[in-house]
Amino acid sequence: MTPTHSLQILISQQEIQERVSILAQQISQQYQNRPLTLLGVMTGSLFFLTDLMRHLTIPHQVGVIQASSYEGNSTEPGRLRTNLDYLPDLKNRSILLVDDILDTGQTLESIQKEISCLTQQDVAKAVLLWKKSRTQTQIKPDYLGFEIDDKFVVGYGLDYADDYRYLADIHTLQFSRRTP
Ligand code: IMP
Ligand code: MG
Repeated sequence: MTPTHSLQILISQQEIQERVSILAQQISQQYQNRPLTLLGVMTGSLFFLTDLMRHLTIPHQVGVIQASSYEGNSTEPGRLRTNLDYLPDLKNRSILLVDDILDTGQTLESIQKEISCLTQQDVAKAVLLWKKSRTQTQIKPDYLGFEIDDKFVVGYGLDYADDYRYLADIHTLQFSRRTP
C-alpha cells in the first residue's frame, strides 16, 4: 500500500490577500504612535509576514525567530526548539509576533514568554489561522486571519514534511492509501 496525499483548496489566494490587507489596516491604525517590530515565527509565517509588511502603512522593523515543535510530519507537538539569536534590538519597541497557525497554542505561548522576558513593552500576536477547537492554552490572537476546523493544512508557508510551502492558496491535505 502506497500512502498518497490529495490537496483541496480551503482558502484562496484572493481571500488571503483581502484578509491580510484588512489586518494590516487595523495594525497600522493601532500602532500609528508606537515603534512597531514584527517578529515572524519561521518558517511557516514567511508569506504572511511579508504580505503584512507590504500592506502596513506605518514604519516598522522586522525580525525572525526560528521555531520548530513538530518532527516533520506529525500533528502531535514535540519538543519546542527556538532560536532567538538573530533578533533585532527590541528596546522600547512594541512587539507583534506573527505566526502561521495557532494549533495547541504551545509554540506561541512559549515564544511570548521568552520575548516578554527580553522587553518591558507589550507583546501582541497576529496569527493567520486558528484551529480553535485544538487550542489547550489560554493564548488568543490579537489579530486573526481565519478560524478553521481541525484539518491539516498546507500552502502559503505551511508545510507537510517541508513540502507544499510554496503553494499560493491554503489547501487541506488528506491522507489516503492506494494499493500498488
Ligand atoms: P502549536 O504549538 O500546536 O500551536 O503548533 C503551531 C505550529 O505547528 C505552527 O506554527 C505550525 O508550524 C505547525 N502546525 C500546526 N498545525 C498545522 C497544519 O495544519 N499544517 C501545517 N503546520 C501546522
Ligand atoms: Mg510555525
